[in-house]
Order: sequence, then C-alpha cells, then structure tokens
Amino acid sequence: MKAYIQGIGCYVPEKRVSNDDLAKIVDTSDEWIYSHTGIKNRHIAAEDEASSDLALRASRDALERAGKSPTDLELILLATATPDHLGFPSTSCVLQDKLGAANAAAMDLAAACTGFIYGLETARAFIEAGIYRNILVVGTEVLSKITNWKDRNTCVLFGDGAGAALVTAADTGSSRGIVTSHLAADGSGAGVLSRPVGGTRTPFVEGRTTPESTLLYMDGRKVYYFAVSVLGKTIETLLEKSGLSLEEIDFIVPHQANVRIIEACAKRLSIPMEKFYMNIEEFANTSAASIPIALTDMSLKGILKPGHLVLTVGFGGGLTYGGNIIRW
Ligand code: UT7
Repeated sequence: MKAYIQGIGCYVPEKRVSNDDLAKIVDTSDEWIYSHTGIKNRHIAAEDEASSDLALRASRDALERAGKSPTDLELILLATATPDHLGFPSTSCVLQDKLGAANAAAMDLAAACTGFIYGLETARAFIEAGIYRNILVVGTEVLSKITNWKDRNTCVLFGDGAGAALVTAADTGSSRGIVTSHLAADGSGAGVLSRPVGGTRTPFVEGRTTPESTLLYMDGRKVYYFAVSVLGKTIETLLEKSGLSLEEIDFIVPHQANVRIIEACAKRLSIPMEKFYMNIEEFANTSAASIPIALTDMSLKGILKPGHLVLTVGFGGGLTYGGNIIRW
C-alpha cells in the first residue's frame, strides 16, 4: 500500500521583518544578508504564539485541502526544534488537543531542519505496514524565541513558520505516493549546531547560567561545508534507490537555509538552478517548516501539479540529513 500526500498547508506569523529592520538592531545590512544568503524577509511569531499555535493553523489548512477532519487522524508526527515545552508535554500532544484529533496518537520528532523529511518517511512506514491510514506530518518552528538577537552571525538567518501534510493510504493502482526516502545522521557534528544549555547534560543553574548559553549556537562555516557535501550525496542516493534519472525529476525542493548552499550543490552536480524551488527570500530559514511551506507555496501557485516528481532534500542539527522522492 502506497502513502501519498493528500493535502498540504502552511502558516506564517503576520509580523514581517525585513533586512533593513534588522540593521536597526545589529551591525548588518540588507546588502550583506541578501548577498550571503538570499534572504530579504522573515516572519516572526507574536509574544503569545508558540510552535503549537503555528502548527494548528498549518494543520487545519492541510486537512481542509485533503477534505479530512481532525477525527480521521490516527497519528500526529510533529517535527520541531522549538517545542512549546522542554521534553514534555510533547508539542504534538498540545496540537492533538487544540485540533480535536481525539483518535490520534501523538509524538514529536527531533531531527531539526530534516524533521519533515524524517516525518514523511516515518508516516510512509506506518502506512505501508498497514498500521495507520491517516497521518498528519507537521514541521513547526518558533526559532525567534531561541535566537540570540545580539548575534549577527545567526539572528539574520532564521524565521518562524509551520507546514503540515496529510499523508494517507493511496488506492490500489494510484501512481501518487512517496516513492523512496533516504534518512541519515552524523552525530559527530552535534556541537556545530546546538542549544548548549538547558538539557540534562548542562542544566540551567541559577546564578551561573548566562541567558545567551540557552539560545541557538551555530558554527556557520562548518554547517555550510557539511550541507554542500551531504545535499549532493543525498540527491545521488535517492536517484540510485529509485532508479529515476535527474531529468525525470520535475523539482528539487531543498531545505531553505541559504541560496548559496544550493548554488554550490547545483554547481557540483551540474544541476540547473531552475530545478530547485526557493522561497527563502520571503521566509528565511524556518527549519523543519521550510520544506512543507515551500511545497504549499508551489501548490498554491500552480507550479506543482498531480503527477509531478518532487525530490526533497535537507540537512540540520544533529547533524541529520536526508530526502524523499514524491510522486505528487
Ligand atoms: O538549517 C541549517 C542551519 N544553518 C545553516 O544552514 C547555515 C550554514 N552557513 C551559512 O549559511 C553561512 O556560513 C553564513 C550565512 C552563516 C555565513 O556566511 P559566510 O559567507 O560563511 O560568512 P563568514 O561566517 O565567513 O563571515 C564573513 C564575514 C565576517 O567578518 P570578518 O571576520 O570577515 O570581518 C563576519 O563577521 O561576515 C561577517 N558577518 C556579517 N556581516 C554583516 C557575519 N554575519 C554578518 C551579518 N552582517 N549578519
């Protein structure tokens, strides 16, 4: 039994912050940010908005497009690096309640920016094994609340948002579906992208913990080189596993982290840039939400149509990486 995406949806907060706005709070410029990343704007959550709130809006959007109701759901898989609460309750449980998905089991998935890719493959496994028929896969992030707004190296890169996909069992004979996936990790790079303090390794200690150490830390250069290398490898692995050629793939939808990373990967593999769908200019890096936001964007603009072959590819904290090939 195949698993396919029956409905896709997204939500980004109303507040839109431009590069010029950021230049008023840190030593940066629109010219630097755009030329080094391709980012122009990002959307930032309101003070009272948490990851589950964004997820709720994206989930309702996806369910509506799929023509399904929350009570049809049997499982919610929610990928986030910015949960409502540390550890528990899981954000997926918070979402399950808000959505009214009374029949669904709920679990969070921690694979940082690769979370949606991991979620799709997990959903496929449950559906192909005949365990569930309707699974909601969500990527949601409020990165603005773990961002160090004094650090120009990182604060210009991220945005908030959520995306969701209703993954369901396809009728026999349907060509739609998740064709194959590749999930991978390299835990030796854990330290290059992390929140150093707040977990059980280095708990918060009153009087000793600095507020900055509880926020996002990144060695941008190291992540950059890792990304360029694993994106190419993942694309090649997915093509090999599926037996498809690059020419047969209609679109590559990468994790939206930096246009320059994608340009370097495209050059390395001799793939024309037009094959990659990018919307980082408007949303910046929304981590686990970036791929479902891009897929929704493409679908609403009529770029992505039933029958198209889409290759997703991403990387993130962990370090994790991977991709999916989907017959839309
Ligand atoms: O979802 C996964 C998460 N992360 C990523 O994907 C990030 C991967 N890495 C990157 O995208 C890039 O490495 C960055 C965009 C983070 C940095 O770009 P870069 O071209 O590698 O810049 P750099 O770190 O080599 O810094 C070059 C210069 C430095 O100044 P000096 O030392 O040469 O004087 C930085 O201090 O640019 C400076 N700089 C800035 N200047 C203005 C760094 N951030 C800024 C800024 N505005 N926002």
